[in-house]
Amino acid sequence: MTSPRKKYIIANWKMNFTPGQSSIYLQRLANRIPAQRSIQIVLAPTTVSLQPLSLQVDRRQFKLAAQNFYWRDYGAYTGETSVTQIRTFVDYALVGHSERRYVFNESEEDIAQKVAAAIRNGLTPILCIGETAVERKDGETAATIYRQLTNGLHEVSKEDISKVVIAYEPVWAISSNKNAKPAKPADLDEAVRLIRSHISKLYGKQIGEDISVLYGGSVNADTAGGYLDVEGVDGLLIGGASLIADSFCAIVETAKEKFNER
Ligand code: PGA
Repeated sequence: MTSPRKKYIIANWKMNFTPGQSSIYLQRLANRIPAQRSIQIVLAPTTVSLQPLSLQVDRRQFKLAAQNFYWRDYGAYTGETSVTQIRTFVDYALVGHSERRYVFNESEEDIAQKVAAAIRNGLTPILCIGETAVERKDGETAATIYRQLTNGLHEVSKEDISKVVIAYEPVWAISSNKNAKPAKPADLDEAVRLIRSHISKLYGKQIGEDISVLYGGSVNADTAGGYLDVEGVDGLLIGGASLIADSFCAIVETAKEKFNER
């Protein structure tokens, strides 16, 4: 049975592609991936590409996401871009990605403010959470997931929680981590259950069942199917493999098959 939860394939291009290269790549994907009825495909280019791609993209085919923004609306914040400045270009925003948390020292309070700013500005925040290798070794996976959810969502009301998507991205499995080790589908099973049960505790059982939960971390065309088979996984957040058209298109094909089977 198809679950009513929304399904996603999200491409996180990270700090790759100039605006010109992004435009060429978008065209290539647009030629190969028809608009999907059952899966929302979201592309997250670097900030400087958002405006030009927003003019080029067919939003029935792909939506755009911001990779980052500052949570205040305007003011003396040199070098920052506010969500109000980019909200007309995008429908989604990544928040709390581990590269933001650990490379740029983004705090959980900042993350909570960003989630709230995205919602206030009509965007869907994709809140990324996940434990580090050390937290996992120390048996703190559940505590980390609970803490990051509680803190990241603390500004989000019960009315607004349905506007949030959660992405489970264990830091030890993300390809940018120098000792990255791909997760096994069984690793996700437990984490996705913990996420849903904690959301249920915070917002009620139905919301815990209805919220979309994605997986991210070294997903490629060969492994995507195994992750999508895990109960409760509603899609994938893809970094490295999303930069290669053949890989990304193959992942979309796999997702189509898997979600249609359910
Ligand atoms: P990866 O990145 O697929 O290259 O591991 C995923 C992410 O960081 O969102």
